Amino acid sequence: MTEADLRDRLAEHGRLLFGRGYSVGSAGNISVRLPDGYLMTPTNSCLGRLDPARISKLDRDWRHVAGDKPSKEVFLHRAVLETRPEAGAVVHLHSTHATAIACLATPGEAAPIPPLTPYFVMRVGRVLPVVRYYRPGDAAMEPAIAAAAKDARAMLLANHGPVVSGKTLDDAVYAAEELEEAAKLALMLRGQDARVLTPAEVEDLLATFG
Ligand code: 13P
Repeated sequence: MTEADLRDRLAEHGRLLFGRGYSVGSAGNISVRLPDGYLMTPTNSCLGRLDPARISKLDRDWRHVAGDKPSKEVFLHRAVLETRPEAGAVVHLHSTHATAIACLATPGEAAPIPPLTPYFVMRVGRVLPVVRYYRPGDAAMEPAIAAAAKDARAMLLANHGPVVSGKTLDDAVYAAEELEEAAKLALMLRGQDARVLTPAEVEDLLATFG
């Protein structure tokens, strides 16, 4: 995809995520890796109304080179994209159910959502570390995010929301959607005797779908 295509795609995903209430107001931010740097949603922008031409561009050293001022969470995206060279995009949302789990979970926990469905395992993986609470935009969270990203495609920021990476922008968005759905199911089924996938079933999914 060209940079122009990615800008359009980013705005389209933003509109769809916002339309379903996965981000509200100006919450959430998305980044995409480019051959010569990164695209990043501008700070205080509404994901539902992104102007492709005004999306921030950063160079390979994360210096702002074009577009509106980037998200204040730029170092969160940097921590994930630099720790995971295979990741092409990062999506951070305040989607309700994943954020609810991020309020219930204990920081340091590795799997706050059980493997209830195959697509959660396939898209998000086996682990979903919970990073302790930091103020939004606090640069001090960068090492904690990088540590969590080492072995995980996605994580929850305590009392804040999910951070999800993917090979492509589409992959990252789909994984963020699966995470939100899995969080919703986990909350619906809390205290009930739901069957979770067995370790062998989880292994089979990961071996088959990566
Ligand atoms: P930005 O508007 O700076 O991207 O911040 C929004 C947000 O979701 C903070 O976590």
